[in-house]
Amino acid sequence: MRRLDFNVFILGFFGCVLWSKLQAQSVTRGPYLQCPTPQSITLMWRTDVATDSKVWYGTDLNNLNQETLVPGSRTDHEVTLTGLQPGTTYYYVVGSSATPLTPIGGQYRFKTAPQPGSQLPLRIWAIGDFGKGNADQVNVKNAYMLYPGSASTDVWLWLGDNVYDDGKDQEYQDKVFGLEGFRDVFSWLPFWAVPGNHDYIEVWRASSLLGIPYTNIPYPNHQGPYYDIIHAPANGEAGGVPSGTEAFYSFDYGNVHFVMLNSEVFDFTLTYQNFDQMTQWLKQDLAQNQATFTVVVVHQAPYSKGSHDSDGPVELVMRAVRERILPVLEQYDVDLALFGHSHVYERSYLLHGHYGPSSTFNFSTMVKNPTNGRFSLGQPYKKDDRPETPDGTVYLVCGNSGSKTSEPELNYPAMVFSDGGPQGVGSVVIDVYRNRMDVKYLRASGLIWDDFTILKKNLRVPQNPRYLLLCEPGSVTLDASYTGGSDQVTVQWSHTPATGLQTQVAPTQNTLYTATLSDALTGQTLSVEFHVVFAGQWQPPIFLLQDTLWTLPGFSYQWLSDGQPIPGATQAWYLPNGQGNYSVQVSQNGCSAVSQPFQYNVSLKAESSPTLKIYPNPAKGQLQIQAPASWAGQSFRILNPQGKTLLNGKLQAPVTLVPLNELPNGVYVLQAATEKIRFQVHK
Ligand SMILES: [Fe+2]
Repeated sequence: MRRLDFNVFILGFFGCVLWSKLQAQSVTRGPYLQCPTPQSITLMWRTDVATDSKVWYGTDLNNLNQETLVPGSRTDHEVTLTGLQPGTTYYYVVGSSATPLTPIGGQYRFKTAPQPGSQLPLRIWAIGDFGKGNADQVNVKNAYMLYPGSASTDVWLWLGDNVYDDGKDQEYQDKVFGLEGFRDVFSWLPFWAVPGNHDYIEVWRASSLLGIPYTNIPYPNHQGPYYDIIHAPANGEAGGVPSGTEAFYSFDYGNVHFVMLNSEVFDFTLTYQNFDQMTQWLKQDLAQNQATFTVVVVHQAPYSKGSHDSDGPVELVMRAVRERILPVLEQYDVDLALFGHSHVYERSYLLHGHYGPSSTFNFSTMVKNPTNGRFSLGQPYKKDDRPETPDGTVYLVCGNSGSKTSEPELNYPAMVFSDGGPQGVGSVVIDVYRNRMDVKYLRASGLIWDDFTILKKNLRVPQNPRYLLLCEPGSVTLDASYTGGSDQVTVQWSHTPATGLQTQVAPTQNTLYTATLSDALTGQTLSVEFHVVFAGQWQPPIFLLQDTLWTLPGFSYQWLSDGQPIPGATQAWYLPNGQGNYSVQVSQNGCSAVSQPFQYNVSLKAESSPTLKIYPNPAKGQLQIQAPASWAGQSFRILNPQGKTLLNGKLQAPVTLVPLNELPNGVYVLQAATEKIRFQVHK
């Protein structure tokens, strides 16, 4: 009896506890959103008591017909939803399997990233050094929320020093996630963060054995509240090269590539180990990047005369960013680099090659464009998309989204515009549409205080020239489809006043037609050639390149030796076994044409250079130049066979990569130092 009574008592006790926990459970942080990709997103929130984690979601606010449950029990919840549609708004409720904990409402929503390369308009908002929990932080946020287009913000960037003073969990709670007037954005706007030195004080405490900051702790061991709070794409799940760490990472959003670096992996024992490993990854990431625009985020600014002076002897991290990261950004023609740390706003010219203190700044050699970049004044910065001709990078400090400094010097000579002081707080608003990026500095007063525009001359045609082979006179369609450019591209054909991408022609003899494409936004023009040729009137040419015979692209092929088909020789190229008479038959649309015989002689063997090597030849999208390491820094040129320079750049060691996007198919000469070598472009 006593035993039974005891059991009843125990059951009653735990039932009571369970019941009261259910009653008490509520969300104490978030929900907030991390890492949106075209197919997935991560929702995070905290509850006062441990529960399992459940999300109900759907594209119709009144019908949340999908759900994901993560079993187990926890107070810090992290649920990744997968199998989502790109560029789509979903609504959601979070809670536990026992009960929903957030209401159904329009502010509980998220938008998945668009398909990579999407040309849809994109809105980016960036804030730095904001987490003070003060009125400035709230005013900066409110000014942005009143600014047109904020409700459809796609990407929210945190430039570091996201919370003060030490990066403790309670500080994130009080000054960021729980801050009245600030916290209402978290349920619908995902943020992408880099850490600042203040976020990292607690990281160093949690990561290092003795709690000594700035020691050489390998970055994979970095941990603490900052890393608990974020969910960053370490494995390339949002695009870019996997970094394998949340310490730094990259992601694609539409036609912009974002690289989020970590200046705090620097160590004051000056080993540069973490820093240089990050830079190695950065090079790989930027080398594969094909996005129209590239934005890099780092906390500690390379140039500043604000609350930090980048010339100061103690500013070793700012210096390391300048000396070790900036050359990589400029090598890959990064468009915009965003920083915090200095509690001011400072925006540079389009710069290239300034890696020393401000005393070494040389306006005439380091400024790629001496204007302020204002579109409204007809002075937007225009860049091509060829990294081997560096067009420069804009460096922008925005460490004043909640922090400020009373009397900043703001006299850095590379800056076009600077702002600071008691009223000088604000954030950065970026709009990207196709090949146009507009960057604005929005003060907490709601006024735009600075703005500039970067345009990309990225109009391209996939194949040029093109040959169309006909058996007999008849109608044929010419198609000048292109990629890139703005929405103000016009097409003008050589043979007709009519415009439009496609035109019908009906020539009776071999005829060359030209389409001229013009982008009114950038002033870029391109010509596309169409050769309409007749089987009885035309012979395809043969080129010798290195040891290989080549003809034109765009056909099917049969190579012949002394007029007899060579089995298997059906590519645009043929590598002969020995000397002889070779020809090629090309076919298209059921018509064929045969070239003149080509006398191949071993003595004709290609020009080559013992020191200069190029791969591949023929080249497709890019050419690799291998030159002796001692040649690094010397210039190279790519010439057409008539000797006109089409591209130039500087050799790098050990390999120089030259994108060939704008070169039509054909034969070219690479000249480097005293050496020359021929190669072909064949896309
Ligand atoms: Fe900082």
